[in-house]
Amino acid sequence: MKRTEIKDALALTTYGQRINVRGWVRSRRGNKNVSFIALNDGSTIKNIQIVADLATSDGCSSEGKRFSEEELKLVTTGACISATGSLVESMGKGQTVEIHADEIEVYGTADPDTYPLQKKGHSLEYLRTVAHLRPRTNTFGAILRIRHNMAIAIHTYFHEHGYFYFHTPLITASDCEGAGQMFQVTTKNLYNLKRDQQGQIDYSDDFFGKMTALTVSGQLEGELGAMALGKIYTFGPTFRAENSNTPRHLAEFWMIEPEIAFYDINDNMDLAEDFIKFCIQWALDHCKDDIDFLNQMYDNTLIERLNGVLAEKFVRLDYTDGINILLEAKKKFEFPVKWGIDLQSEHERYLVEEHFKRPVILTNYPKEIKAFYMKQNDDGKTVRAMDVLFPQIGEIIGGSEREADYDKLLNRINELNIPMKDMWWYLETRKFGTVPHSGFGLGFERLVLFVTGMQNIRDVIAFPRTPNNAEF
Ligand code: 4AD
Ligand code: MG
Repeated sequence: MKRTEIKDALALTTYGQRINVRGWVRSRRGNKNVSFIALNDGSTIKNIQIVADLATSDGCSSEGKRFSEEELKLVTTGACISATGSLVESMGKGQTVEIHADEIEVYGTADPDTYPLQKKGHSLEYLRTVAHLRPRTNTFGAILRIRHNMAIAIHTYFHEHGYFYFHTPLITASDCEGAGQMFQVTTKNLYNLKRDQQGQIDYSDDFFGKMTALTVSGQLEGELGAMALGKIYTFGPTFRAENSNTPRHLAEFWMIEPEIAFYDINDNMDLAEDFIKFCIQWALDHCKDDIDFLNQMYDNTLIERLNGVLAEKFVRLDYTDGINILLEAKKKFEFPVKWGIDLQSEHERYLVEEHFKRPVILTNYPKEIKAFYMKQNDDGKTVRAMDVLFPQIGEIIGGSEREADYDKLLNRINELNIPMKDMWWYLETRKFGTVPHSGFGLGFERLVLFVTGMQNIRDVIAFPRTPNNAEF
């Protein structure tokens, strides 16, 4: 018989219809007359109840199939089963239909003595140690479905606004952010490295004939796309070997990077705000059951916070004004504030959560703390950068207007000693048909963090990659 997904089964009202559902047993309870099996197949956070009459029952007058204890012995928490029976209206609280089973097949057993997800309410820390099984919990089912929906929201937004999805390489020879946090890619024998006369590693016989690494950002190539197609976005994995073991950093994370020709920094801010609000609205519209669950179980201010962000216009603030607010704040920060510092999460969150009580877009940062490609302001000190700062998260988006002037860009590249051999192709865009253009990067996991209300970025990606952790 064809399988009905539980999400669809729960919406049926064709009582008496015989249907088949398949999934993983969340629990089985009952008495000597009847067994109640809570079954989940991942299509929704809700379980369907399977009712199995037992052969030992005596006073029970109902007709139909009776299961022996022996038949149901293997139907334990975590087992995978197929259940067929008639759809009946449920008397139980909070459920509309259940299935009165006449056939149960066990696909895979789960030994109660060793199955790691026995009880409800395991800690998130414990669940990280069983990341191969945690998608089967309510919490991770909810998070992973929301994550999927956020990806769909992003593609929908850009597609509907005339952007082209542009695929940038994952293996590259250039360090876009210039932070030296790249994971090297090589086929060389690390036990027997060929060196040149100065003792430097000779990459001429490596796979690509030069040193290569996993990309930290698709932006540089994205700019090439924008300067041909007009409006593009990337959406792919990025890699950073930054040894920051924080609840906001992953070594492998997904980034969305729109890049738009003819956009200045103000257009860029308008886009960032409109785009991220669209994604949050999408989550509220498409993930209600899952968000309700997370709001109830983890953070009962979640829905309020999501609506709060939608209701207000984001503050737009100069970095220098932001520093002044922090300097005047009564609060004692762990990292001291002065003009020129790279803001820490505590500073960003102070501005957003305590001072303005809404998202802030901070612009015109000191050039020393930002990447080489950002448009230089006339003051000679700042660049046209923009970071979007969010409650709970801090920086969720980082972007800028790009330096479109060939000479200024080349000067900056030279000042920072970026090897020209890696950058010639990027510079050529400023030589042939250059144009003012802008873009930004949204950290996908930080968006999912915000929308789920989770506290740790390790809990919004199925298999997190962090320092000392590449399990699963
Ligand atoms: O601010 P970042 O480093 O900017 C760029 O990479 C630019 N090339 C983007 C652009 O203009 N096209 O990174 C962008 C965003 C951050 O705001 C943050 O949300 C996320 O990527 N991010 C990380 N997320 C998880 N783990 C990490 N280690 C992250 N590093 C950055
Ligand atoms: Mg940044």
